[in-house]
Amino acid sequence: MTVLVPTMGALHKGHQALIKRARSMSKEVVVSIFVNPLQFENKDDLEKYPRSPERDIQLATLAGATEVWMPDYEEIYPGEITHLTAGPLGKKFEGQSRPEHFDGVVTVVNRLFEIVKPTAAVFGEKDFQQLAIIKAMKSKVEIIGVPTVREFDGLALSSRNVRLTQDGRVSANVIHRALAAAHLAPTVAIAQEIIDSTLSTEPAFKCDYAAIIDESSFELASDETKHKRGIIAGWIDGVRLIDNMTMGQGR
Ligand code: PAF
Repeated sequence: MTVLVPTMGALHKGHQALIKRARSMSKEVVVSIFVNPLQFENKDDLEKYPRSPERDIQLATLAGATEVWMPDYEEIYPGEITHLTAGPLGKKFEGQSRPEHFDGVVTVVNRLFEIVKPTAAVFGEKDFQQLAIIKAMKSKVEIIGVPTVREFDGLALSSRNVRLTQDGRVSANVIHRALAAAHLAPTVAIAQEIIDSTLSTEPAFKCDYAAIIDESSFELASDETKHKRGIIAGWIDGVRLIDNMTMGQGR
């Protein structure tokens, strides 16, 4: 069986965790590296997206990849593109700020699945909404989510972190601090208050959204919601950062 780890390159320990997980499931692990233009609504973000192919091959191989596949645009999108849509989930939160983003993600993931024909594919929980949307594609491919890998101060590993200034890098852990502080709050309202007040201590952080949602519908959670998750997105130094954490554990 083949397990696919789809990436856009600029690999780091977070991707390596995905690859290791894939390797624990199978002897055949394909890591794809393709910066998909369809999921970037902002040309500047696409152009600035970090690229490090040689290092990527090394890191992927060290983590257990048996094939690192770097298709070019024509291989993924020969001729006319069959655009898929991400459905209602794709319009919320991340999808509100980045309207075409999830349609681009499902379109490329579908192509990667068509070409590689994996039995399973592994994605990071850091992009929690993306993971939910890919699960909702209901493809035959088994979708595995892997917990977020963090820096020493809690910042979720992301290829975009390298674009933060030194000060920005220090401020960036406010996202994790907010989620961690709210994680055990007794009610949704208190958790939300803790998140909002923690984020407001860091003026460098420009919040896009900070909410507690039902993990499957992405509707705002109530105290009765069984599986709740805090989701936060925003910008520091113009770099978009997102993170999430389960809420209400231990109640
Ligand atoms: O999470 C990513 O890196 C991308 O969105 C993915 C899943 C590889 C699709 O381009």
